[in-house]
Amino acid sequence: TYEKVWLALSLVLIVGFIATIAYGASAGPGIDMIDDKGGTVDPATLDEHPKFGDPGIEKTGENQYDVYVVARQFVFEPGTSEPLRVPEGSTVTFHVTAADVIHGFEVVGTNANTMAIPGQVAEFTVEFDEAGEYGILCNEYCGSGHHVMEGTILVM
Ligand code: CUA
Repeated sequence: TYEKVWLALSLVLIVGFIATIAYGASAGPGIDMIDDKGGTVDPATLDEHPKFGDPGIEKTGENQYDVYVVARQFVFEPGTSEPLRVPEGSTVTFHVTAADVIHGFEVVGTNANTMAIPGQVAEFTVEFDEAGEYGILCNEYCGSGHHVMEGTILVM
């Protein structure tokens, strides 16, 4: 029947839209976001968490790193008090959560951008193809210090 044809056509359209969005989301100067998933964490015991209790960078393979970031009013740990350092050409999976309220985690000028939500772990993977200094910004209003909540990623 025609109904089935229209159903099939609309499915093709939907898949096409998703493919277009996925393709469009891969652009960014010097870096490339290649994966986006997530998990959960208990904010009440964040300080005792094996990764988020002492967040930082971990080498997981040749040119591969895991970076754990805790956003809290009004810093990124790590990133604000000292820059996050990753080698040029590395593939970095960020695991981002928040300790208190909802924050944002945006690598300025790129499509690497997520919300940092208490209880949730945002995960995305980025390839750092070009050396340079990349800014990190909080892009969710999180309180009086929101506008000064920023950090740095140094790619060398
Ligand atoms: Cu943290 Cu705005």
